[in-house]
Amino acid sequence: MERLNTLENIVLEAGKIIQEGYQGQNEAFKKSPTELVTRYDKAVEAFLIEKLQPLYRNYSIVAEESFEGGNNPQNAIFIDPIDGTTNFVHKIPHLAISIGIWSKGKPQEAIVYNPILNELYSAKSGQGAFLNGKKIQVNKDANLQNAIIATGFPYVKHEMGKEFWWVVKSFERLLPKIRDIRRLGAAALDLCYLSSGKVNGFYEINLKPWDVAAGILIVKEAGGEVTDIFGKEYSFEKAIIVASNGTIHKQLLENLAEYNDG
Ligand code: IPD
Repeated sequence: MERLNTLENIVLEAGKIIQEGYQGQNEAFKKSPTELVTRYDKAVEAFLIEKLQPLYRNYSIVAEESFEGGNNPQNAIFIDPIDGTTNFVHKIPHLAISIGIWSKGKPQEAIVYNPILNELYSAKSGQGAFLNGKKIQVNKDANLQNAIIATGFPYVKHEMGKEFWWVVKSFERLLPKIRDIRRLGAAALDLCYLSSGKVNGFYEINLKPWDVAAGILIVKEAGGEVTDIFGKEYSFEKAIIVASNGTIHKQLLENLAEYNDG
């Protein structure tokens, strides 16, 4: 666990930059009509890259604010400096630093840290998932009608294209069958809320590797399941991610709208 501890210390340090920024006025710039970025996203990312690169010499860095496109490397550190930037700008305390370390195309280590609520989720392959050092597990309720399902909306929603309509049609099918939906605003934390039994499932279209690279490992280590919309293994190239406690997975898939993920 030694390297994970070093990683945790670096992430805790990076969290101080976010804590400081959260108190002040955060000027936001638009990456698109709906997607925001602040100087804190960039500062946290630069800090993490500087600290992590020497520790993981044979790994590529795939980070939200500096990613220039291309295929996802097999050995990579996926960094989202602030997952939930919109919440950060609006001073809603639901945001996190997300770091997933993948080797040979498989997740090895993960940290998702909310520095406002001081919640640090972590996992290492084969060693379980933890919240502030305490083991966590998904909630195994098999009844879809009892389920809280987390989701998010794609930044291209203003175009009202096929992604938008998939979201709307999925609500139409799913909402009457479950207890309720949550749109909390940070996909990495949604996956951690699933891992700690707060919600029973999660799905979203158009997420990026840095949104989910850490959360996927945390869900799996907490006993949950992660697939694409067809129930097949999820990979970053797939349009839709579906994650659950496992017991409702099939029902969740059956109640989402169809999507041609070609
Ligand atoms: C966003 C959040 C949000 C999800 C968006 C993501 P960002 O990440 O995870 O919940 O709905 O699709 O892009 O942009 O705040 O890092």
